[in-house]
Parts: sequence; structure tokens; C-alpha cells
Amino acid sequence: MSGGRTIHVTVNGTRFEREVEPRRLLADFLREDLGLTGTHVGCEHGVCGACTVLLDGDSARSCLTLAVQADGAEVETVEGLGTMDSLHPLQRAFREHHALQCGFCTPGMLMTALDLLRKHPSPSEAEIRDGLSGNLCRCTGYEHIVRAVRAAAAAQATAAQATAATSEREAGGAAARRHGPAAAAGGDGDAGGEPA
Ligand code: FES
Ligand code: FES
Repeated sequence: MSGGRTIHVTVNGTRFEREVEPRRLLADFLREDLGLTGTHVGCEHGVCGACTVLLDGDSARSCLTLAVQADGAEVETVEGLGTMDSLHPLQRAFREHHALQCGFCTPGMLMTALDLLRKHPSPSEAEIRDGLSGNLCRCTGYEHIVRAVRAAAAAQATAAQATAATSEREAGGAAARRHGPAAAAGGDGDAGGEPA
């Protein structure tokens, strides 16, 4: 390739080295060079949000980003979210709440929602609507999408509480093994009560 430039991009945890033309769009790089066609291309000029990916943790329009701008960056696409056997909580919520019809906008919606929930784990409905306002859907009327993101946020909060409770229990168990039952009960494990 004449005038090509070598870039190194990590996509969904895998590092790629490719030579690209300086004018190659990130969307085309992902879809055509890497075969990651989950990122959709709709308007191709930054309006619809279908091409949204995360670039170093921030949502970005891949139709407005050059592949060379992603050199050295971490890119996350919808393919990195979950698998058919193990859906990401957002994907599960979209399925459970009928948040997609034709599915064309869905990859962009999911990546935008992922960015939103990482930065605002408990968003209000207004914040969800605002966060998704740059993504267009011609099918759903948005209600189900908003409902799905709320459900995913709630599921995320429940999972975080369960993880915290498990860590607490494990910490208590480890203390008990180190110092005996008094430590697990909150004591220091060696005093044995008030002095006589
Ligand atoms: S295809 Fe990128 S915003 Fe529409
Ligand atoms: S589900 Fe069809 S465009 Fe959103």
C-alpha cells in the first residue's frame, strides 16, 4: 500500500498491527480489515450513532474517526460485550425488555449505554435519555431502550452489592481462620473480655 501507515490498535483485548491509508475510517477498519461487522454504519456523517464504539473508554463515532487516530488506543466494540452463551447484562436487558426490533441501531445503543453506566452507574431516567440522545432508532420509540438501560443499571447495582457481601463474608472467614471466632465476631481475638 503506497502512503500507508502502520498502526497498533487493541480491539476487545486483542492487539492488531495493520497498515492503513491515512484516510481510512475507523468504522471501515473495524468492519473490513478486522471483520468486526457488529459495528454498523448508517448515516456515515456522525448523526445516527450506529457506528459508536469506545475509544480509550469514551464513546466515539467510528464513522468520524480515522483509523490512524486509534493508533495506540484501546477500542471496544459490541463483539467484546458478551457471547451468545453469556450475554452482557445490557444485552440481556435489551432482550428481556424488547429494546430492539430491526437491531440496526442496537450495537451503537449498547456501546453508548455501556459508556453511560460505567461513568454513571445509577443514572436517572432523564440522564439515560440524555445519554442516549445522540443515538437514533427508527423502530422502537425509545421507551423500551430506556427501560432496558434502567434494568441493566439495577442489575449492575444488585450484582455489585452481592459481590461486596461475598467479599465481606470471605474477609470475616479469613479473619476467623487467622484469629479464631472472636475476630470473626468483631473482637480482637486475644483479650477474652474485660479485665477482672
Ligand atoms: S454511521 Fe456514524 S454516526 Fe451514523
Ligand atoms: S431497532 Fe431498528 S433502528 Fe433501532
